[in-house]
Amino acid sequence: MERGRFFITTAIDYVNAAPHIGHAYEKLAADILSRYWRKRGAEVFFLTGTDEHGLKVQQAAIKANIAPKDFANKVSLQYQAAWTALNIKYDYFIQTTQPNHEKFVQDFLQKLYDLGEIYKDEYRGIYCIGCEEYKMIEELEPGQICPIHKKKCEAVSENIYFFKLSKYQDQLMEAIQSKKLVIEPESHRNEIFQFLAKEPLRDLAISRSKVDWGVQVPWDKTQTIYVWVDALLNYLSGSKGIWPASLQLIGKDIFRFHAVIWPALLLAGGYEFPEKIFIHGFLTVNGQKMSKTIGNVIDPVELAKVYGVDALRYFLFREVPFGSDGDFSIDRFEKRYRADLANDLGNLLQRVIVLSNKYKIKWDSHGIPKTKYHEIDKAIEDLRFSDALSLIWAIVTDANRAIDMEKPWQTQTDEEKIKKFLTSLLHTLAIIAGLLEPFMPDTSHKMIDQLETGKAEPLFPRKK
Ligand code: MSP
Repeated sequence: MERGRFFITTAIDYVNAAPHIGHAYEKLAADILSRYWRKRGAEVFFLTGTDEHGLKVQQAAIKANIAPKDFANKVSLQYQAAWTALNIKYDYFIQTTQPNHEKFVQDFLQKLYDLGEIYKDEYRGIYCIGCEEYKMIEELEPGQICPIHKKKCEAVSENIYFFKLSKYQDQLMEAIQSKKLVIEPESHRNEIFQFLAKEPLRDLAISRSKVDWGVQVPWDKTQTIYVWVDALLNYLSGSKGIWPASLQLIGKDIFRFHAVIWPALLLAGGYEFPEKIFIHGFLTVNGQKMSKTIGNVIDPVELAKVYGVDALRYFLFREVPFGSDGDFSIDRFEKRYRADLANDLGNLLQRVIVLSNKYKIKWDSHGIPKTKYHEIDKAIEDLRFSDALSLIWAIVTDANRAIDMEKPWQTQTDEEKIKKFLTSLLHTLAIIAGLLEPFMPDTSHKMIDQLETGKAEPLFPRKK
């Protein structure tokens, strides 16, 4: 991060389906980082939104019997409501059907066209609507089945426009090698480098002659702009003039778009690279990919209604290292809820407040030592959220252990000593509350409130 500013983007979600826990995972991570940097005094800009054009959305709208724009708006509002319910505080929510975004996309393409970066040619290929992408036959399973969507891809032939992606191959490889283009984790950086080193890039088909639901090609109104180009440009159109981003978060399924097409478009348009692109892992549910057919799609808002927003925020980032794939299971969620949240943290706060009341100790926020927790900060800055939470829980565990050893509930011979002990625990709890704030903002505020008022209430009520 450049000093003083932190501009973070997430992928923008397709509006063909409602938000699920995988979409929430990425936006929550961006929220944690935004809150962390805001707290550190940085000027933060958190951009997210919805991806509303293309065949996939058009077909979903037809199925719902609603005009595409109305359909897109309706589903987009579902995303916005979900993020509000999960306490995700973005600064700007972009919808790719907004006229200012559409205008930006047209101007950008026109510039590339004028610069000679775009040409017209015939395209014959096999298209996967699910991926919104032309596929190579070698990438597909027998019968032209897309390995991701398990659906037959369609043979398409059309006269369309191409972006000269191939001419950026060497520049991209050089940028990745010299770390002018930073891609993390390392395994993905290596993967993309190998991909580029293996064979020549093909130019990118950037328009569609048979898809109506999209932004019109400015110099040829019979065609629409390829939805991925339209979508990627949200990062510029939504940036309110503060590009480059400090960090772009995306899932591993879309990292080639972001590690090849996106930087090439930036080079062609004369823009800087983002400071970092980070690829997070995928969440499965009970070991399976989420799918409507299997019926295992988890709605994060419903989950938060049962367990609380903060419990969900905690679980998702404690359980799995952010760059790795992870599995969600209610059993493990409940286990962590009981052990880490209700027992370790909740009981610690209650015990300390009840005992402090007994000894008439008033908590004074001015007395908190200004302790620095470099290791925890470093873990958050490196996106090692599970490490950061483990380190915070080590403080919780130590505090619980100290109480069990001191046994302050027994009759005390040295009252001053026990008062001092409890005061230090009150301070430790305030520090824990501060450290938890980016992850669990409501819990953090509740903890401070309880410390201030001396009224102990269960932070995580027991579930039946
Ligand atoms: N619209 C494109 C992104 C365009 S960005 C210029 C898209 N949309 S999506 O709705 O399919 O996915 C949005 C984000 O959610 C992606 O980063 C994707 O990787 C992520 N996830 C979707 N399912 C996920 C899981 N099961 N687990 C974790 N992240 C997941 O792709």
